Amino acid sequence: MERIILDVDTGLDDAVALFLAAGLQEFTIEAVIATAGNVGLEKTLENTLNILETAGIRCPVYKGADKPLVRKPVQAGDFHGKSGLDGPVFAPRKFQRAQEEDGIDALIRLVKAMPHQISIVSVGPLTDLALAFRKDPAVALLCKQIVVMGGSFSQGNVTEHAEFNTFADPEAASLVFSSGAKLVLFPLDCTRRVTLSPARLADFQRRKGRSTAVFCSCMESYTANYTKRGQGQPQMHDPLCVAYLVDPSKVETEYCRVEVDTNPGQTYGKTTKTSTNSDGGVLVAKNIDIPWFWTLVDRSLANLP
Ligand code: RIB
Ligand code: CA
Repeated sequence: MERIILDVDTGLDDAVALFLAAGLQEFTIEAVIATAGNVGLEKTLENTLNILETAGIRCPVYKGADKPLVRKPVQAGDFHGKSGLDGPVFAPRKFQRAQEEDGIDALIRLVKAMPHQISIVSVGPLTDLALAFRKDPAVALLCKQIVVMGGSFSQGNVTEHAEFNTFADPEAASLVFSSGAKLVLFPLDCTRRVTLSPARLADFQRRKGRSTAVFCSCMESYTANYTKRGQGQPQMHDPLCVAYLVDPSKVETEYCRVEVDTNPGQTYGKTTKTSTNSDGGVLVAKNIDIPWFWTLVDRSLANLP
Protein backbone atom coordinates (compact mmCIF):
# COMPACT_ATOMS: atom_id res chain seq x y z
CA MET A 1 0.00 0.00 0.00
CA GLU A 2 1.49 3.35 -1.08
CA ARG A 3 0.67 6.29 1.19
CA ILE A 4 0.40 9.44 -0.95
CA ILE A 5 -0.23 13.16 -0.68
CA LEU A 6 -1.37 14.78 -3.94
CA ASP A 7 -0.52 18.44 -4.58
CA VAL A 8 -2.68 19.57 -7.50
CA ASP A 9 -3.78 22.64 -9.45
CA THR A 10 -6.88 20.83 -10.64
CA GLY A 11 -7.27 21.30 -14.22
CA LEU A 12 -8.33 18.62 -16.64
CA ASP A 13 -5.26 16.35 -16.49
CA ASP A 14 -4.98 16.80 -12.71
CA ALA A 15 -8.53 15.38 -12.58
CA VAL A 16 -7.29 12.22 -14.32
CA ALA A 17 -4.47 11.95 -11.78
CA LEU A 18 -7.01 12.26 -8.95
CA PHE A 19 -9.29 9.58 -10.47
CA LEU A 20 -6.27 7.29 -10.96
CA ALA A 21 -5.18 7.66 -7.32
CA ALA A 22 -8.76 7.28 -6.10
CA GLY A 23 -9.57 4.16 -8.09
CA LEU A 24 -6.42 2.06 -7.64
CA GLN A 25 -6.27 -0.16 -4.53
CA GLU A 26 -2.49 0.35 -4.42
CA PHE A 27 -2.98 3.78 -2.81
CA THR A 28 -4.00 5.30 0.50
CA ILE A 29 -4.57 9.02 -0.07
CA GLU A 30 -3.43 10.73 3.14
CA ALA A 31 -4.29 14.23 1.87
CA VAL A 32 -4.91 16.33 -1.22
CA ILE A 33 -3.67 19.92 -1.35
CA ALA A 34 -5.07 22.31 -3.94
CA THR A 35 -2.74 25.08 -5.08
CA ALA A 36 -2.99 27.99 -7.52
CA GLY A 37 -1.78 27.14 -11.03
CA ASN A 38 -3.92 26.35 -14.04
CA VAL A 39 -6.48 28.72 -12.54
CA GLY A 40 -6.74 30.54 -9.19
CA LEU A 41 -6.78 28.71 -5.86
CA GLU A 42 -10.52 29.08 -5.21
CA LYS A 43 -11.25 27.35 -8.54
CA THR A 44 -8.58 24.64 -8.21
CA LEU A 45 -9.92 23.89 -4.72
CA GLU A 46 -13.52 23.70 -5.96
CA ASN A 47 -12.47 21.44 -8.87
CA THR A 48 -10.48 19.17 -6.55
CA LEU A 49 -13.37 18.82 -4.07
CA ASN A 50 -15.81 18.05 -6.89
CA ILE A 51 -13.60 15.37 -8.45
CA LEU A 52 -12.97 13.68 -5.09
CA GLU A 53 -16.66 13.74 -4.16
CA THR A 54 -17.54 12.30 -7.58
CA ALA A 55 -15.09 9.46 -6.87
CA GLY A 56 -16.57 8.99 -3.39
CA ILE A 57 -13.25 9.82 -1.70
CA ARG A 58 -13.48 11.33 1.80
CA CYS A 59 -9.76 12.10 2.31
CA PRO A 60 -8.90 15.50 3.83
CA VAL A 61 -8.46 18.34 1.32
CA TYR A 62 -6.46 21.45 2.17
CA LYS A 63 -5.84 24.88 0.66
CA GLY A 64 -2.23 25.39 -0.51
CA ALA A 65 -0.57 28.52 -1.84
CA ASP A 66 -2.64 31.15 -3.63
CA LYS A 67 0.32 32.73 -5.41
CA PRO A 68 3.90 31.95 -6.47
CA LEU A 69 6.91 32.75 -4.24
CA VAL A 70 8.16 35.75 -6.21
CA ARG A 71 6.79 36.21 -9.73
CA LYS A 72 3.35 37.52 -10.67
CA PRO A 73 0.83 34.70 -11.15
CA VAL A 74 0.31 33.14 -14.60
CA GLN A 75 -2.46 30.68 -15.46
CA ALA A 76 -3.07 28.01 -18.11
CA GLY A 77 -6.84 28.35 -18.46
CA ASP A 78 -6.69 28.17 -22.24
CA PHE A 79 -6.11 24.40 -22.03
CA HIS A 80 -8.43 23.81 -19.08
CA GLY A 81 -11.20 26.39 -19.59
CA LYS A 82 -12.20 29.38 -17.44
CA SER A 83 -13.24 27.19 -14.50
CA GLY A 84 -10.10 25.10 -14.89
CA LEU A 85 -12.33 22.07 -15.33
CA ASP A 86 -14.54 22.88 -18.30
CA GLY A 87 -17.06 20.20 -19.17
CA PRO A 88 -18.68 18.55 -16.16
CA VAL A 89 -21.44 20.26 -14.17
CA PHE A 90 -21.51 19.14 -10.54
CA ALA A 91 -24.43 18.91 -8.13
CA PRO A 92 -23.93 20.64 -4.73
CA ARG A 93 -21.51 18.52 -2.71
CA LYS A 94 -22.77 16.37 0.19
CA PHE A 95 -19.55 15.74 2.11
CA GLN A 96 -16.31 17.12 0.65
CA ARG A 97 -15.10 20.51 1.88
CA ALA A 98 -11.72 22.08 2.65
CA GLN A 99 -10.11 21.51 6.06
CA GLU A 100 -9.40 24.57 8.22
CA GLU A 101 -5.69 23.67 8.59
CA ASP A 102 -3.32 25.30 6.10
CA GLY A 103 -2.15 22.85 3.43
CA ILE A 104 1.55 23.53 3.94
CA ASP A 105 1.20 22.92 7.70
CA ALA A 106 -0.75 19.73 7.00
CA LEU A 107 1.95 18.47 4.63
CA ILE A 108 4.67 19.12 7.22
CA ARG A 109 2.59 17.49 10.00
CA LEU A 110 1.77 14.35 7.99
CA VAL A 111 5.29 13.79 6.62
CA LYS A 112 6.83 14.20 10.10
CA ALA A 113 4.22 11.89 11.62
CA MET A 114 5.02 9.18 9.03
CA PRO A 115 8.72 9.69 8.18
CA HIS A 116 9.92 8.04 4.94
CA GLN A 117 6.45 6.54 4.39
CA ILE A 118 4.63 9.15 2.31
CA SER A 119 5.16 9.72 -1.42
CA ILE A 120 4.24 13.19 -2.61
CA VAL A 121 2.75 13.60 -6.10
CA SER A 122 3.15 17.22 -7.19
CA VAL A 123 1.49 18.08 -10.49
CA GLY A 124 1.17 21.86 -10.34
CA PRO A 125 3.58 24.70 -9.53
CA LEU A 126 5.98 23.64 -6.74
CA THR A 127 5.05 26.51 -4.43
CA ASP A 128 3.55 24.37 -1.65
CA LEU A 129 6.58 22.10 -1.40
CA ALA A 130 8.95 25.08 -1.48
CA LEU A 131 7.04 26.78 1.36
CA ALA A 132 7.04 23.55 3.37
CA PHE A 133 10.81 23.06 2.92
CA ARG A 134 11.43 26.69 3.88
CA LYS A 135 9.27 26.36 7.01
CA ASP A 136 10.79 23.01 8.07
CA PRO A 137 13.84 21.98 5.99
CA ALA A 138 13.87 18.48 7.51
CA VAL A 139 10.70 17.66 5.58
CA ALA A 140 12.59 17.45 2.28
CA LEU A 141 14.48 14.38 3.50
CA LEU A 142 11.53 12.80 5.32
CA CYS A 143 9.38 12.32 2.20
CA LYS A 144 9.68 8.76 0.87
CA GLN A 145 9.91 10.30 -2.60
CA ILE A 146 8.43 13.23 -4.53
CA VAL A 147 7.09 12.60 -8.04
CA VAL A 148 6.84 15.85 -9.96
CA MET A 149 5.25 16.71 -13.29
CA GLY A 150 7.26 19.62 -14.62
CA GLY A 151 10.02 20.97 -16.80
CA SER A 152 11.11 20.29 -20.34
CA PHE A 153 14.51 19.53 -21.85
CA SER A 154 13.28 20.33 -25.34
CA GLN A 155 10.34 22.55 -26.37
CA GLY A 156 8.35 24.37 -23.68
CA ASN A 157 4.55 24.60 -23.64
CA VAL A 158 4.03 28.04 -22.17
CA THR A 159 7.08 29.75 -23.65
CA GLU A 160 9.39 28.21 -26.23
CA HIS A 161 11.73 27.26 -23.38
CA ALA A 162 9.59 26.63 -20.29
CA GLU A 163 6.93 24.14 -19.20
CA PHE A 164 3.94 25.61 -17.32
CA ASN A 165 4.52 24.22 -13.78
CA THR A 166 8.13 25.41 -13.59
CA PHE A 167 7.29 28.68 -15.42
CA ALA A 168 4.46 29.40 -12.96
CA ASP A 169 6.94 29.38 -10.04
CA PRO A 170 10.60 29.03 -11.11
CA GLU A 171 11.96 30.02 -7.69
CA ALA A 172 9.90 27.28 -6.02
CA ALA A 173 11.04 24.71 -8.57
CA SER A 174 14.68 25.70 -8.10
CA LEU A 175 14.37 25.40 -4.31
CA VAL A 176 12.73 21.95 -4.55
CA PHE A 177 15.18 20.61 -7.17
CA SER A 178 18.12 21.60 -4.94
CA SER A 179 16.54 20.46 -1.64
CA GLY A 180 18.13 17.02 -1.57
CA ALA A 181 14.68 15.41 -1.59
CA LYS A 182 14.36 12.10 -3.48
CA LEU A 183 12.81 13.47 -6.69
CA VAL A 184 11.35 11.73 -9.73
CA LEU A 185 10.62 14.19 -12.54
CA PHE A 186 8.19 13.72 -15.42
CA PRO A 187 9.09 16.43 -17.96
CA LEU A 188 7.18 17.25 -21.13
CA ASP A 189 9.72 15.14 -23.06
CA CYS A 190 8.01 12.10 -21.52
CA THR A 191 4.47 13.28 -20.82
CA ARG A 192 3.68 14.70 -24.26
CA ARG A 193 4.06 11.18 -25.69
CA VAL A 194 0.92 9.97 -23.86
CA THR A 195 -2.20 11.30 -25.58
CA LEU A 196 -5.89 10.40 -25.57
CA SER A 197 -7.11 9.36 -29.01
CA PRO A 198 -10.70 9.92 -30.20
CA ALA A 199 -11.13 6.14 -30.46
CA ARG A 200 -10.03 5.58 -26.88
CA LEU A 201 -12.28 8.40 -25.65
CA ALA A 202 -15.21 6.89 -27.59
CA ASP A 203 -14.51 3.59 -25.82
CA PHE A 204 -14.70 5.31 -22.41
CA GLN A 205 -17.91 7.08 -23.49
CA ARG A 206 -19.60 3.70 -23.92
CA ARG A 207 -18.97 2.81 -20.26
CA LYS A 208 -21.07 3.39 -17.12
CA GLY A 209 -20.44 5.16 -13.81
CA ARG A 210 -20.53 8.78 -12.71
CA SER A 211 -16.74 8.99 -12.42
CA THR A 212 -16.34 7.72 -15.98
CA ALA A 213 -18.97 10.22 -17.12
CA VAL A 214 -17.08 13.11 -15.45
CA PHE A 215 -13.78 11.80 -16.86
CA CYS A 216 -15.32 11.74 -20.37
CA SER A 217 -16.79 15.23 -19.99
CA CYS A 218 -13.38 16.54 -18.88
CA MET A 219 -11.61 14.78 -21.73
CA GLU A 220 -14.09 16.05 -24.31
CA SER A 221 -13.24 19.63 -23.21
CA TYR A 222 -9.53 18.82 -23.07
CA THR A 223 -9.69 17.38 -26.61
CA ALA A 224 -11.61 20.40 -27.91
CA ASN A 225 -9.13 22.84 -26.33
CA TYR A 226 -6.17 21.04 -27.88
CA THR A 227 -7.91 20.87 -31.25
CA LYS A 228 -8.77 24.60 -31.09
CA ARG A 229 -5.05 25.34 -30.69
CA GLY A 230 -3.96 22.92 -33.39
CA GLN A 231 -2.02 20.98 -30.74
CA GLY A 232 -3.22 17.50 -31.71
CA GLN A 233 -4.54 15.01 -29.16
CA PRO A 234 -4.69 16.00 -25.44
CA GLN A 235 -1.55 15.14 -23.45
CA MET A 236 -1.81 13.12 -20.22
CA HIS A 237 0.84 14.92 -18.17
CA ASP A 238 -0.22 14.57 -14.53
CA PRO A 239 -1.61 11.01 -14.22
CA LEU A 240 1.75 9.56 -15.30
CA CYS A 241 3.15 10.60 -11.91
CA VAL A 242 0.53 8.50 -10.14
CA ALA A 243 1.07 5.58 -12.52
CA TYR A 244 4.82 5.63 -11.72
CA LEU A 245 4.09 4.81 -8.09
CA VAL A 246 2.14 1.67 -9.11
CA ASP A 247 5.17 0.17 -10.89
CA PRO A 248 8.34 2.23 -11.44
CA SER A 249 9.72 -0.55 -13.67
CA LYS A 250 7.27 0.57 -16.38
CA VAL A 251 9.09 3.91 -16.67
CA GLU A 252 12.50 4.36 -18.31
CA THR A 253 14.52 6.85 -16.23
CA GLU A 254 17.99 8.41 -15.94
CA TYR A 255 19.66 10.32 -13.10
CA CYS A 256 20.38 13.97 -13.89
CA ARG A 257 21.18 17.15 -12.07
CA VAL A 258 18.45 19.62 -13.05
CA GLU A 259 18.69 23.40 -12.84
CA VAL A 260 15.90 25.95 -13.22
CA ASP A 261 16.53 29.38 -14.74
CA THR A 262 15.29 31.96 -12.20
CA ASN A 263 16.50 35.00 -14.13
CA PRO A 264 13.50 36.89 -15.54
CA GLY A 265 13.84 36.98 -19.31
CA GLN A 266 13.48 34.75 -22.36
CA THR A 267 14.46 31.54 -20.54
CA TYR A 268 12.73 32.23 -17.19
CA GLY A 269 11.54 28.88 -15.79
CA LYS A 270 13.59 26.83 -18.27
CA THR A 271 14.93 23.53 -16.91
CA THR A 272 18.36 22.26 -17.92
CA LYS A 273 20.15 18.95 -17.31
CA THR A 274 23.59 19.86 -16.01
CA SER A 275 24.94 16.31 -15.63
CA THR A 276 23.75 12.73 -15.80
CA ASN A 277 24.89 11.25 -12.54
CA SER A 278 23.22 10.22 -9.34
CA ASP A 279 24.91 12.44 -6.76
CA GLY A 280 22.02 14.56 -5.45
CA GLY A 281 20.42 14.08 -8.83
CA VAL A 282 16.84 13.84 -9.95
CA LEU A 283 15.46 10.65 -11.51
CA VAL A 284 14.11 11.91 -14.84
CA ALA A 285 11.44 9.93 -16.71
CA LYS A 286 12.28 9.37 -20.36
CA ASN A 287 9.51 7.00 -21.43
CA ILE A 288 6.57 5.05 -20.00
CA ASP A 289 4.83 1.84 -21.08
CA ILE A 290 1.85 3.61 -22.67
CA PRO A 291 -0.49 0.59 -23.14
CA TRP A 292 0.16 -0.33 -19.47
CA PHE A 293 -0.73 3.23 -18.40
CA TRP A 294 -4.11 2.99 -20.09
CA THR A 295 -4.82 -0.36 -18.38
CA LEU A 296 -4.44 1.54 -15.08
CA VAL A 297 -6.94 4.19 -16.18
CA ASP A 298 -9.33 1.42 -17.26
CA ARG A 299 -8.96 -0.38 -13.91
CA SER A 300 -9.25 2.78 -11.85
CA LEU A 301 -12.42 4.09 -13.49
CA ALA A 302 -14.00 0.62 -13.36
CA ASN A 303 -13.41 0.64 -9.57
CA LEU A 304 -15.04 4.04 -9.05
CA PRO A 305 -18.77 4.83 -8.64
O1 RIB B 1 2.64 21.56 -18.42
C1 RIB B 1 1.66 20.66 -17.98
C2 RIB B 1 1.28 20.95 -16.57
O2 RIB B 1 0.74 22.26 -16.47
C3 RIB B 1 0.18 20.01 -16.04
O3 RIB B 1 0.36 19.82 -14.66
C4 RIB B 1 -1.08 20.78 -16.31
O4 RIB B 1 -2.13 20.44 -15.38
C5 RIB B 1 -0.63 22.19 -16.07
O5 RIB B 1 -0.71 22.43 -14.69
CA1 CA C 1 -1.46 20.20 -13.14
